[in-house]
Amino acid sequence: MMFKLQKLTTLLAALPLLTTAFPATQATEKTPLPLIIWHGLGDSYRADGLKEVAQLAEEINPGTYVHIIHLDESDNGDREATFIGNLTEQIAQVCEQLASEPILSTAPAVNALGFSQGGQFLRAFVQRCNFPKVRNLVTLGSQHNGIYKFQSCQSSGDWVCRSAEALLRFGRWSDFVQSRLVPAQYFRDVNEYDSYLEHSNFLADINNERELKKTLYKSNLMSLNRFGMFMFSDDTTAIPKESAWFAEVNQTNGEITTLRERPIYKEDWLGLRSLDEQGKLDFEIIPGPHMALSEKVLTEIFTEYFGPVEVSDETSTLPQLMVAQGT
Ligand SMILES: *[C@@H]1O[C@H](CO)[C@@H](O)[C@H](O)[C@H]1NC(C)=O
Ligand SMILES: *[C@@H]1O[C@H](CO)[C@@H](O)[C@H](O)[C@H]1NC(C)=O
Repeated sequence: MMFKLQKLTTLLAALPLLTTAFPATQATEKTPLPLIIWHGLGDSYRADGLKEVAQLAEEINPGTYVHIIHLDESDNGDREATFIGNLTEQIAQVCEQLASEPILSTAPAVNALGFSQGGQFLRAFVQRCNFPKVRNLVTLGSQHNGIYKFQSCQSSGDWVCRSAEALLRFGRWSDFVQSRLVPAQYFRDVNEYDSYLEHSNFLADINNERELKKTLYKSNLMSLNRFGMFMFSDDTTAIPKESAWFAEVNQTNGEITTLRERPIYKEDWLGLRSLDEQGKLDFEIIPGPHMALSEKVLTEIFTEYFGPVEVSDETSTLPQLMVAQGT
C-alpha cells in the first residue's frame, strides 16, 4: 500500500526540499507555515510520491518549507520502521527530530499532514509534545480508533511485512508484539476490550481510554486551530474505514457507533468535543479507495488548511502563542 500520487506526471522530478527558510524576521507578512508530513505503512520518506506531495504543497502555498518525518536516514530503515518498532520510542524520536530542526522550532507554528497510520502518529506528537506547535492537523485515511483486522502481505518476497506477520504469532497482546509490531499497537477490537486496555502500547493511551486521563493530551489537542479528518469512501485497506472519523465498529455485527455517540467525545477525554463545538473538527470524505489521492484533492486540502497566515516577530519566538488567522 505504498502511497502513489495520481496524475502528477507534469511535475518536475527532483525537488530540493530544504530550500526555503522560514522568514521569521518579517513583521506582518502573510507566510505559509512549515508543513510536516508523516507517511504511511510501507512507505519511505524519500519515495517519489512524497516528493511530489511536497512539491505540490510548495506550488499551492509558495514558500512552504516541508519536512518529511523519518525514523531512519536510509530508505530501507525508514520503511522498516513503519512495520517494526515501539511507537512510544518512535514518537519520542520524532519529538526530538522536530524540536531540533531549526526552521521548524523557530517557526511560530507548523501545519501537519498525516498519511494513513502517520495521521494517528502525528496526533500523538501533538498530544505528547507539540513542539513545534501544530496549527492545523490533517489526517488522511488514518486509524484514529484503531484497526480490528491486519492487512495481509502484498507479496511473499516482502520480508519486512513477512517478519511482521511472524511476530503476530506470539499473540497480539503480548509485550513482545506490542513493543515491536507497529500495527499491533493500534489494534483495537471491542470484543477484546479488556486485553486492549491492559496491553495496548499505543492507542489505548493516546486515546485516553484508561482510567487515569492525561490532561496534557486534551489541552494539546484542543490547542489545534483546525483538525481535518478525511475518510476514503471505498477504503478496504484500513479496516474499519470509519476509524478515520474516530467511529467504533463492532466487527461481529457491523454496528457503527459514531464519535459523537461515544464516551471519548461525550466526556471529552481528548478535547474532540471542544474542538467540534468550536467548529474546528472536520469530518470529510474523499471518494475512492485507501490513499487514492489526486492532485485536485490535495490542492483543495492544501488551499483550505495550509494557506498563508499572518506572523509577526513576537509570535515567532514564542511557540505557545496563537498565530493570527490569515483570512
Ligand atoms: C515501549 O517503549 C517504552 C519506552 O522505552 C517502554 O517503557 C515500554 O515498556 C515499551 N513497550 C513494551 C510493550 O515493551
Ligand atoms: C458486538 O456485537 C456482538 C454481536 O451482536 C455482541 O454480542 C457484543 O456484545 C458487541 N460488542 C460490544 C462491545 O458492543
